[in-house]
Amino acid sequence: MKRIQVGFIAVTCASLIGCGGNGGGGGENDPQVRDYSDTFTALLSTPPYPMTNPYNEVKEQLGELLFWDPILSGDQNTSCASCHHPDFGWADGRRFSIGSDGIGLGPARFGSEITPIHSPTIMNVAFTGTTVNKSTNSFVSGGYFWDLRVDTLEKQAEGPIKNPIEMLGYNIAEADIMAAVVNRLKAIPEYVGLFQQAFPETKAINSENITKALATFERKIITPNSRFDQFLAGDQTVLTQQEVIGLNKFIDSGCARCHSGPMLSDNAIHLGEAIINDVVVRTPSLRNISFTAPYMHDGSRPRLIDAIADYENRGDIDVNIDDDDFNDIAVFLRTLDTSTFYKGKPDVVPSGLTVGGDIY
Ligand code: HEC
Ligand code: HEC
Repeated sequence: MKRIQVGFIAVTCASLIGCGGNGGGGGENDPQVRDYSDTFTALLSTPPYPMTNPYNEVKEQLGELLFWDPILSGDQNTSCASCHHPDFGWADGRRFSIGSDGIGLGPARFGSEITPIHSPTIMNVAFTGTTVNKSTNSFVSGGYFWDLRVDTLEKQAEGPIKNPIEMLGYNIAEADIMAAVVNRLKAIPEYVGLFQQAFPETKAINSENITKALATFERKIITPNSRFDQFLAGDQTVLTQQEVIGLNKFIDSGCARCHSGPMLSDNAIHLGEAIINDVVVRTPSLRNISFTAPYMHDGSRPRLIDAIADYENRGDIDVNIDDDDFNDIAVFLRTLDTSTFYKGKPDVVPSGLTVGGDIY
């Protein structure tokens, strides 16, 4: 067992990240706790809110009801929760999602409107794009979707409502859906009252306030204080020796070059580095990974160990692990799990429609 002082190791580790991988294939079993502060930081226990959409409690509650209310969909049968459901780690447990004509939930859902890409979790989207150096004080967004095509949660939220495969269906035109949804909501006194309290300045039911409420609710679903966060905060006793070995392998074999910071993601697209299937997508977060199978942008890896195994002998992206390392790394990644994350489901939604849509 190697025993070297923490300060020295921190330097070694930084230079290993710099050159990526240890060249030899497979990390050695180093159980020594290092200084990880250049690579990872604990997740904050409160989410950041943008100045243009400050928090208030009614806005968060309104956003939760809208998230579950199929009234936002063209045919009033699909909700955000159809594909981002707490029972499946706020994703849907499927390779590809079924949207506007779907019935059922998770792997049991069936229908023919299928998204071309895997549904990511919405856990911790409040922190998307935060890094070790970029504080969340003035930070509100980081690029959403697998290709980072929108830069705020507020803008993201209109996407699925206007998408025929996801929520729109084919009976209302994309250009008309937001006005139709606004009219539906205006006809429901409970929504009128909630919008008035959530938006005291404008008191308006309009698309901007709908997306602001949805984003405020999404910012609630964060997963701080995992065992790894407690460890980063200084409690070295919370990780087992194998977990520390896995953590050190994760760094030494090059994973933390992309999976770093509070999210274990740089939220960047690594151009020229095709990860699998020659498709280039952004680095996903690895927080609460045990709850969000299947993995990768095409959901093609059913188990965590399968996703990790993709990185065996990957000289092309300067990563080197072999099958002795898979389990240690998986054991480390599970220290990011928090089984107590928010899993609330409203009993009723103000429209009186089925909560969540056709997900029974
Ligand atoms: C039919 C399934 C489906 C429905 C319904 C749906 N989504 Fe999604 N969601 C997806 C898929 C698939 C993606 C990835 C799309 C992409 O990257 O191009 C996604 C991406 C997202 C993201 C980006 C997450 C990230 O890390 O970048 C957020 C946030 C999100 N959805 C929120 C919502 C909200 C809010 C609603 C309701 C207004 C909603 N979704 C409805 C399937 C769905
Ligand atoms: C060059 C940047 C880069 C490096 C280095 C890297 N990854 Fe990734 N990682 C990504 C990207 C990009 C994806 C998404 C790929 C896809 O969806 O096809 C990903 C996906 C994953 C996933 C699946 C996450 C999910 O929710 O779907 C896991 C697990 C993972 N990486 C672990 C690792 C491990 C372990 C290592 C080191 C052995 C590593 N990564 C090295 C960029 C990287």
